Amino acid sequence: MKSDVIRRAKAVLTPALRIHTDIVVRKARGIYVEDVRGKVFMDFSSGLATTNIGHNHPRVLQAIREQIDSLVHSGCIFYYESLVKLPEMLAKVTPKGLDMFFFSNSGAEAVEGALKLARFYTGRQGIVAFTGCFHGRTFGAMSLTTSSIRYRRNYQPFVPSVYHSPYPYCYRCFFGQRADTCKMDCYEHLERLFKHLIHPEEIACIIIEPVLGEGGYVVPPAAFLKRLRTLCDKWGILLIFDEVQAGMGRTGQWFASQNFGVVPDVMTIAKGIASGMPLSAVVSNRRIMSRWPSGAHGTTFGGNPVSCAAAIATVEVIQQEKLLDNARKVGKVALQRLRSMKERYQVIGDVRGIGLMIGIEFVKGGRPFTQGLKKIMDYCLRKGLVLIECGVDKNVIRLAPPLVIKQAEMDKGLDILEEAIRKTEN
Ligand SMILES: Cc1ncc(COP(=O)(O)O)c(C=O)c1O
Repeated sequence: MKSDVIRRAKAVLTPALRIHTDIVVRKARGIYVEDVRGKVFMDFSSGLATTNIGHNHPRVLQAIREQIDSLVHSGCIFYYESLVKLPEMLAKVTPKGLDMFFFSNSGAEAVEGALKLARFYTGRQGIVAFTGCFHGRTFGAMSLTTSSIRYRRNYQPFVPSVYHSPYPYCYRCFFGQRADTCKMDCYEHLERLFKHLIHPEEIACIIIEPVLGEGGYVVPPAAFLKRLRTLCDKWGILLIFDEVQAGMGRTGQWFASQNFGVVPDVMTIAKGIASGMPLSAVVSNRRIMSRWPSGAHGTTFGGNPVSCAAAIATVEVIQQEKLLDNARKVGKVALQRLRSMKERYQVIGDVRGIGLMIGIEFVKGGRPFTQGLKKIMDYCLRKGLVLIECGVDKNVIRLAPPLVIKQAEMDKGLDILEEAIRKTEN
């Protein structure tokens, strides 16, 4: 029987808002969520890749309480300690040189800010994005977003001068290549845009997710990102990495770009930054940021004192609990097990990932096995494991548990998942 809360929610919340499960939460702590009936779930979604240090971490709760006692809101009228301490701390862990910040509230808002910065700084209009990426649902961000037609349908016209090129999604290569035949046609395709559609001197920025999130949890070849860096340097284009999902430790480094040795000009951060309090950031270097003058961008709520305090505590917890190490360690063992499962179960077409950002793609006869994935996820949920899917065909499970997860908890989750796969395959 559905809870009364769900019945009431259906009456007052637009159906456009999709809530992924029917769980009505009483409380949450760490990787666990307890529903109003007392059933406990392991949350391998991290509340959409956000509670990287676990739900309701006591240090975050304490920081929030202390901040609430002194100041809740500033509206850009006042200075306060958390607004300055946070970027000072973040600047020590961001890729080299990225040390100036603009704080806003959501991932999409940070993407909007990054696009505005790129256009303002370069004086150019063109924006290049990649087919498969998700950047958010506001008009600028949505104009880039192509992870699914669901997010674009009935919203034309979009922001003009946006061009798309295929994401390097090697398992489903847009050009039909395999690892041994790959000549990086995806990069060539991008260069061809510049011959046919828009001159590179008219491009303000190239924006990409350094690890694809919503589009399928895909790790691109480092060489592709390196080529983007060279291309941008050659033409004075800003390279923007959207780290909204992959950042804040998810990949076992503070930021995904640090796995590839490529430093972007601009980076967006959100989700994991404040453990669920609304906060996001546009980050860039001094040379670029100093040419974005006072008033060229702004916010009422961005950099809220309480959100900044929660973010400071989040950064401290990641450091003190050595969560990057844990993400790498637990992620590596999980990947090994999943790769060995791929040899045993035909429905697993691909396993890929980095740190605790792992995608498992399900196929049947080489085609996306969306129905099978649904069954697998339903079974897991009944057994107390919350998973979410991704990919244009919704046939990829994204494993994105909190970085605080213990090896035994990951093993338990994967036991449930394996049982579900076995039952679905038979
Ligand atoms: C890479 C990326 N960029 C932007 C966004 C948009 O973030 P928000 O939902 O906070 O606006 C998301 C959200 O999933 C994301 O994964």
